[in-house]
Amino acid sequence: MRQSSHTYVYCLIGLIALLGLVALALRSHLAIGKAEPTSQTSLQIALGKELFNDAQLSADGSVRCASCHIPDKAYTDGQRVAVGVHGRTGTRNTPSLATVEASGDNTFFWDGRRTALEQAVLDPLTNPVEMGLHNQAELIEKIQANAAYRNAFVQAFPDSKSSITPDKIASALVAYVRSLKSPESAYDRYALQGDHTALSPQAQLGLAIFKGKGRCAECHLLQSSPATLTDHAYHRTGVGLDAVNQNLPALTQSIIDRSLHGAAIGDRVATHADEAQLGRFNVTQDPADIGLFRTPSLRGVASTAPYMHDGSVATLDDAIDREVYYRSLQAGYPLSLSVEERRDLKAFLQAL
Ligand code: HEC
Ligand code: HEC
Repeated sequence: MRQSSHTYVYCLIGLIALLGLVALALRSHLAIGKAEPTSQTSLQIALGKELFNDAQLSADGSVRCASCHIPDKAYTDGQRVAVGVHGRTGTRNTPSLATVEASGDNTFFWDGRRTALEQAVLDPLTNPVEMGLHNQAELIEKIQANAAYRNAFVQAFPDSKSSITPDKIASALVAYVRSLKSPESAYDRYALQGDHTALSPQAQLGLAIFKGKGRCAECHLLQSSPATLTDHAYHRTGVGLDAVNQNLPALTQSIIDRSLHGAAIGDRVATHADEAQLGRFNVTQDPADIGLFRTPSLRGVASTAPYMHDGSVATLDDAIDREVYYRSLQAGYPLSLSVEERRDLKAFLQAL
């Protein structure tokens, strides 16, 4: 009797163990099934990263995406304006790519001339002062010539035909750019996790100014979680406009003529500094848009100097002074911040 009840208990334990194993096996089987799209995405991200770091994709073999979007500088380059192939300089300051996904950007470049990231990632390759390739055919040729790439494209895009196309190159670059995480900031910890020690008392005073008297949060929005710090809209700050004000009629006319001839906006803007200062007008040709630029996200702003679309503002202190000055001009009332208040504001910006 005792013997048989023992056997019974052992059998039961055995059965439970067996069921456990079956469940485990099933789970891992399901997990493999589920993991497939993820691993495909990771192959595309890995391929995108290769392309992003490949100087062979430029006209003189010296410039890669990461030459200007440097990981250690929040994917900016620390230069006033970008320097591309043959040492040619552009007209605009390199924006951070770490903010693209985090701030939910849906328009790209300082003037918003692209509405799809898939287009924006291909433009630099053929821009004459960035990577300088003649056209996308030359790009495909370079990639096609590399056996490792041919293999990587088949792996990353197994469902489609084996040819390498601009669409697939764009998809891989987009997968990589979207994978760039803007690191969790002190302000994120403060706002999202309610960690009130994450912001110093000074930065908390700065936050109050940012939302209140400074009115910064009207454009650099704090609402969503995490905060986008942009309104995805266009505003006139006056930066750079003084220099071209005298020449406006001629400049607007040449932009209109150029658009009638169908020239690529990006190539033109990167090679004509004075036209570039007209901002959104280059895209819309609407006089109301002269000098309007997209509000940049301020995530990680302490590491993205110099500032503004033309990189004309060297330090964060100068950027704050500039914004305070222009905001009061626009609001039509003097916004005066004391030296201490500006320091508080800076402490807050450093926590973003
Ligand atoms: C020579 C420097 C340089 C190189 C090389 C370069 N970029 Fe950029 N990138 C810039 C500049 C400058 C801008 C802003 C241009 C403008 O707004 O007119 C920019 C803007 C962008 C944007 C739009 C970001 C935003 O927030 O609007 C994306 C995306 C981007 N680059 C991706 C890439 C990729 C992908 C590559 C490689 C294929 C690349 N860049 C190569 C300098 C560079
Ligand atoms: C009316 C909308 C608006 C308001 C209000 C505003 N900004 Fe901005 N901010 C912008 C735009 C647009 C730019 C880009 C201007 C350019 O490049 O010409 C910008 C640029 C900046 C930059 C430079 C970012 C970079 O990456 O180059 C900083 C820093 C900044 N603002 C801080 C502030 C502060 C601090 C306040 C409050 C005192 C403020 N802004 C108020 C729209 C605004």
